[in-house]
Amino acid sequence: MCGIVGYVGDHQPDARPLEVVLEGLRRLEYRGYDSAGVALVTGAGGLATAKKAGKLANLVAELDARPLPGATAGIGHTRWATHGGPTDVNAHPHVAGGVALIHNGIVENFAVLKEELLADGAELLSETDTEVVAHLLQRAYAEVKDLGEAMRLVVRRLHGTFTLLAVHEDHPDTVVGARHDSPLVVGLGDGANYLGSDVAAFIAETRRALELAQDQVVVITPRSVTVTDFDGNPAEGREYTIDWDAAAAEKGGFRSFMEKEIADQPQAVQDTLLGRTDTHGRLVLDDLKIDESVLRAADKIIVIACGTAAYSGHVAKYAIEHWCRIPVEVELAHEFRYRDPILTERTLVVAISQSGETMDTLMAVRHAREQGAKVLAICNTHGSTIPRESDAVLYTHAGPEVAVASTKAFLAQITAAYLLGLYLAQLRGNKFADEIAEILDDLRAMPEKIQEVLDRSGRVREIARWMADTSSVLFLGRHVGFPVALEGALKLKEIAYIHAEGFAAGELKHGPIALIEPGQPVFVIVPSPRGRDSLHSKVVSNIQEIRARGARTLVIAEDGDEAVKAYADEVFFVPQSPTLLAPLLSVVPLQIFACELATARGLDVDQPRNLAKSVTVE
Ligand code: G6P
Repeated sequence: MCGIVGYVGDHQPDARPLEVVLEGLRRLEYRGYDSAGVALVTGAGGLATAKKAGKLANLVAELDARPLPGATAGIGHTRWATHGGPTDVNAHPHVAGGVALIHNGIVENFAVLKEELLADGAELLSETDTEVVAHLLQRAYAEVKDLGEAMRLVVRRLHGTFTLLAVHEDHPDTVVGARHDSPLVVGLGDGANYLGSDVAAFIAETRRALELAQDQVVVITPRSVTVTDFDGNPAEGREYTIDWDAAAAEKGGFRSFMEKEIADQPQAVQDTLLGRTDTHGRLVLDDLKIDESVLRAADKIIVIACGTAAYSGHVAKYAIEHWCRIPVEVELAHEFRYRDPILTERTLVVAISQSGETMDTLMAVRHAREQGAKVLAICNTHGSTIPRESDAVLYTHAGPEVAVASTKAFLAQITAAYLLGLYLAQLRGNKFADEIAEILDDLRAMPEKIQEVLDRSGRVREIARWMADTSSVLFLGRHVGFPVALEGALKLKEIAYIHAEGFAAGELKHGPIALIEPGQPVFVIVPSPRGRDSLHSKVVSNIQEIRARGARTLVIAEDGDEAVKAYADEVFFVPQSPTLLAPLLSVVPLQIFACELATARGLDVDQPRNLAKSVTVE
């Protein structure tokens, strides 16, 4: 949700700041693509800006047509529109006097501030809340003549959420930033420093990063990074090394990031499983700031998350309840936050988030902690806000996920949820060590099986291409197959813009079966016949019910499940696995189906319309 990048370097004005900022924007474009813009300080007294509605390519074309002069510092922005439509005028940066400013978030009291500025004679050109902040900063700077201090004066007046970056024409060696409930990290270079919404912004330049806390102002020059709180008290960020490189965030020969990330899944699961046991073979978590006795005493788990992450939470529920005998609720973070949930110090809240920045999830985490519950985060992004604010963290190691539609992070989240379930079972004595070791062995066998699903994906791709003009697809599943059905439908909605619904197979007869018309394609996720037999036979009956009404059945079943063949128009077999672990396999053909179908429709698979990867507003 809005990507932000800043650069300052120790050199004569040249093309480098623009190159660095554009490269950063290219890597951050998944955060929003309604417009893009840059501002450069071209030497003392010079400010140059360019901005354009639409994707970054439009800005690049504009810069080709009207090149900007060389510079020493620059800021860039890629927008997911909130206040004001996606137009050139509303695009960031916003300029007021010698100040250029970019923003991620929402300034909730902007109307009052705007009134005040208008009464004072300010001329505002856009409909954005951001322009108001630019004017406030320009006025504050005129008074105090210090960019950091001016920023501190301004942020203390703002309500809402924001990351702000600004440059001033009189300071060719400075970029100032501030954060409140929106992400901002510092990149540490040699004779140059960087700012970004996430580390992808500067990964091509440096792997040294500095984590900022909430409510901090940072001033970077080529050779210094100064951090304070909003009152000007000195503060320090935590330095860390980014554990992936620029190549990890490239398409690497695939047609889209999504296609590449689907192919990365065996690795993502394997890396998430790596190094989880101590020398005695006992499971360990990454960062546990709560006493184990608290986890032992937990009497309820509530999983909170949004989108795909929430579906991984549904899978977690089945596994954790089965292994640990603790009741698990799964709730969308935005619903949880506003319904006055019952939380005690014995409630363990598990927050799942790829980005660690989803505002709905963050607000739910804060609410849970305020109510006395402990929060454990499952997260893919080191140093992001949700794990920082949680009592314990279990990191997924999926690597950078760039495509807006989540795939490898989903598999890694499910894997981490299994690990959490086993960890709790170990801690609470629900399972013997050898039982846990056996499930861990099953888990360790999954990456190879996922690879097998990928290797067999020719047929599902073919079918997806044939179905490029389909207008509706339904997905059915039971037990852990239910969240897989929901995720399969979500993928298709997100990237192919096709009406798609996922249902619990047993619910079908209570309403959705009325949707079935001759030819209606329905994916059915069939559980293993080796598991609880009743589950398998119930789903096979469900297939017969819809087939009798003319549905075209596309079945995902386990190798050797000959019984389904008779009822399926098409079967995609996946390797055998324990029932609880099967989602790691059965969702993969659905991801491939959506990706291939959207590609065949000529759509932008990585940057679907209206969406953003990291939703940092409520
Ligand atoms: C957005 C993305 C989804 C993602 C969800 C949760 O809606 O488009 O792909 O699943 O946010 O994101 P998180 O980073 O919290 O996992």
